[in-house]
Amino acid sequence: MTPNSAKCPLQLNERGNLRHFLSLDGLPRELLTEILDTADSFLEVGERAVKKVPLLRGMTVFNVFFENSTRTRTTFELAAKRLSADVINLNVSTSSTSKGETLTDTLRNLESMAADMFVVRHANSGAAHFIAEQVCPNVAIINGGDGRHAHPTQGMLDMLTIRRNKGDFSKLSVAIVGDILHSRVARSDMLALRTLGCTDIRIIGPQTLLPVGLEQYGVKVYTDMDKGLEGVDVIIMLRLQRERMQGGLLPSQGEYFRLYGLSEKRLAQTATDSIVMHPGPINRGVEIDSIVADCAQSRILDQVTYGIAVRMAVMSMAMSGQQEQQQINTAKEAL
Ligand code: CP
Repeated sequence: MTPNSAKCPLQLNERGNLRHFLSLDGLPRELLTEILDTADSFLEVGERAVKKVPLLRGMTVFNVFFENSTRTRTTFELAAKRLSADVINLNVSTSSTSKGETLTDTLRNLESMAADMFVVRHANSGAAHFIAEQVCPNVAIINGGDGRHAHPTQGMLDMLTIRRNKGDFSKLSVAIVGDILHSRVARSDMLALRTLGCTDIRIIGPQTLLPVGLEQYGVKVYTDMDKGLEGVDVIIMLRLQRERMQGGLLPSQGEYFRLYGLSEKRLAQTATDSIVMHPGPINRGVEIDSIVADCAQSRILDQVTYGIAVRMAVMSMAMSGQQEQQQINTAKEAL
């Protein structure tokens, strides 16, 4: 087992290649760079008249989303189709989960239909790890977002957006602003930025929306947005996740925008060529001024486009690594 596969035994195969994509925690810089380079090469596919490559021809991908999604679900579907896979979108709200079928039974039934890959979104942190470890280890599992834990493809599409606009991560100041407590995107972004060499990562938000233990990510924490934004190159705004909040974590919406909203005035405190990002869905007037969301510095819609290429990269790499592991297992059994 290589050192990397020992650190990420679930995600990497015995040769250290991607097999599942569950979290960015522990993945080496070389692997993240390979994902970005592969995604860069797939961007061109989206500009062709026939937007297809045959890498997953004959493979079956199931999108299994137990939580709502617009961008992630559709871009995974497009990515799989551009790789020539057959794609099934399980509509969880009309599936037999409403009759009491468990997550495990649902996925085992889909596995019996010769599934090659599951893209899973679930409200519970750890759901994707559980499936990869306990339910379907021989199917490539891609995490489309699990609770507050991780959203690794969002993390990587954010990194692709930053790299394409700004280049070398080691020279950048990046601010992540808002509801950090409930944000799987913030966690994935912090891990990716650190691994890729960014040394000035600023986390900005009200004390009530900052989780404990942020220091482990090597970030600087600010409760004063004006101080935190000074001179930054990249601003990643986050949505207030009211659906995950219990109790009075916040003042009024108006007060929140006054203290933590990205206005034109605040944007002017950042570097003159700074870029504005947001994973979506955006709430105009809550965390971001409508004018800023649509301004020339905004890369919010580019992020969506880059998401297709990143998801193509991750899916093709994980499918290849899963097949490689099957061959290793078959060879071992034959001994
Ligand atoms: N960024 C993101 O995960 O958006 P969706 O919830 O629409 O997939």
